[in-house]
Amino acid sequence: MRLIIMGAPGAGKGTQSEKISAKWNIPAVSTGDMLRAAVKEGTPMGLTAKSYMDGGQLVPDEVVIGIIKDYLSSDKCSDGFILDGFPRSIPQAEALDAMGVKIDAVLSIEVADEKIVERMSGRRICSSCGASYHVAYKAPKTEGICDHCGSALYIRDDDAAETVLKRLTTYHNTTEPLKEYYAAKGLLVCVEGQEEVADTTAEVMKALSKFEA
Ligand code: AP5
Repeated sequence: MRLIIMGAPGAGKGTQSEKISAKWNIPAVSTGDMLRAAVKEGTPMGLTAKSYMDGGQLVPDEVVIGIIKDYLSSDKCSDGFILDGFPRSIPQAEALDAMGVKIDAVLSIEVADEKIVERMSGRRICSSCGASYHVAYKAPKTEGICDHCGSALYIRDDDAAETVLKRLTTYHNTTEPLKEYYAAKGLLVCVEGQEEVADTTAEVMKALSKFEA
């Protein structure tokens, strides 16, 4: 299975990628996570990326295309993969096509903007292992502490309400046109992501069941 997951910021791409990755035993790669790791390490790419991320804008195409190209050419992806958050613009999708990467399906998780703003305000991330929580919908066992590794949880800089609104605008203007791009190729599958995590997972698994051996 070679899958792309798309959706607005906070639609649940990372949450559902984790479930699909566990069920299908394929790696999930998030360009957002890769960029945040580069920011944390203070690499030149990270320093470039940070200003775009904090401003709710997309990092330049050539930067993310480069990191995805390296990742997809590694052995890890030989039995399939999930691309979480890539491509995010038509030039990125065209670059993926030009790499000769064959995609089986593009899953779009649909959530209304009002719901997104509420979700992002409650998200908490582990400062060490990157696990994601929500204060109401996926609370850690101990407030502020990661269930997996015991490290402190933090709020992402770009989850500030004004940045979330900018990210939504970027999504609608630049990323959402990809739905038409992939629908024209017969690859687009849309699922409802408004309800609880388990309900969305059930929808996702149902939509992907036709790809099971
Ligand atoms: P990225 O990290 O990819 O951010 P995003 O797309 O904005 O998505 P998120 O990670 O915020 O959310 P998600 O959809 O994964 O939702 P999650 O599962 O966490 O990218 C960050 C930035 O990097 C971008 O803004 C851009 O600058 C840059 N970037 C990344 N890729 C790029 C690219 N290809 N090109 C250029 N720039 C790029 O869920 C969110 C919260 O809701 C969690 O707390 C979760 O617990 C909760 N939740 C999830 N599902 C449900 C549910 N069904 N019900 C209730 N709560 C739920």
